[in-house]
Amino acid sequence: MSALLEKIDKSRLPRHIAIIMDGNGRWAKEKGEDRLFGHFHGVESVRNIVEGAAELGVEYLTLYAFSTENWDRPEYEVSGLMELLVSTIRKEVESLNKNNIRLHVIGDMSMLPEYARTELNEALDITRPNTGLNLVMALSYSGRWELLNAVKNIAHEVKQGKLNVEEISQDTLQHFLCTSEFPDPELMIRTSGEFRISNFLLYQLAYAELYFTNVRWPDFRKENLYEAILDYQNRERRFGKTSDQLDETKAPA
Ligand code: IPE
Ligand code: IPE
Ligand code: MG
Repeated sequence: MSALLEKIDKSRLPRHIAIIMDGNGRWAKEKGEDRLFGHFHGVESVRNIVEGAAELGVEYLTLYAFSTENWDRPEYEVSGLMELLVSTIRKEVESLNKNNIRLHVIGDMSMLPEYARTELNEALDITRPNTGLNLVMALSYSGRWELLNAVKNIAHEVKQGKLNVEEISQDTLQHFLCTSEFPDPELMIRTSGEFRISNFLLYQLAYAELYFTNVRWPDFRKENLYEAILDYQNRERRFGKTSDQLDETKAPA
């Protein structure tokens, strides 16, 4: 077993890990290859990390695969990514099922080409009964899109008389987010040396521990995930309280 894996305290795993899979393009460019070559190799990392998370017993893994802003990339890259998405899903559904992994999707599905939507919906249906890892793909997703959507839907309910303005709470807002069924991520990882959120889970990351690594996504493997989890386990999550307050609530040794 890996030395890093042995150090992980299995009783204090994050329930939900979210990852911004960044750096495919630069990884490819550094090798004198086309950006799509990087995306292609990024799929191998997805496989490896999904497997790693499932083995550990992480309950939710959210992967940022395509942002609403990514639609503005050159046409050939966008269509290449869509084709890669569809062919990957087609190939992987069987192994998702075998590993009891349930697929979810968050994002503006109406922006996806019809053939990609059909393929995704099929995969969602097929993996629905699975009870192991919840794999959440953020596709054509952005936090601002999601929040705007939630606000509009809440306004509709108010207009139809189904909801009173005074009754709107944080729970209401949570209910209207795409992630309403999932707990907030405790750990957010971004690869490839960028220190920003890029419109990812803006509301849900409020108290997430952020972990940044220079490793490009196509090079990211289970060992890198273990490193991130170990780093997370060494942090003190205070949620606005003082360190002393946290000590008081700890059971005496
Ligand atoms: C992440 O890699 C994948 C997507 C955004 C689809 P990039 O394509 O952003 O790679 P870099 O950041 O240009 O290296
Ligand atoms: C964020 O990466 C989106 C995904 C990884 C899918 P970007 O590469 O699009 O983000 P910026 O443009 O560097 O902020
Ligand atoms: Mg990028």
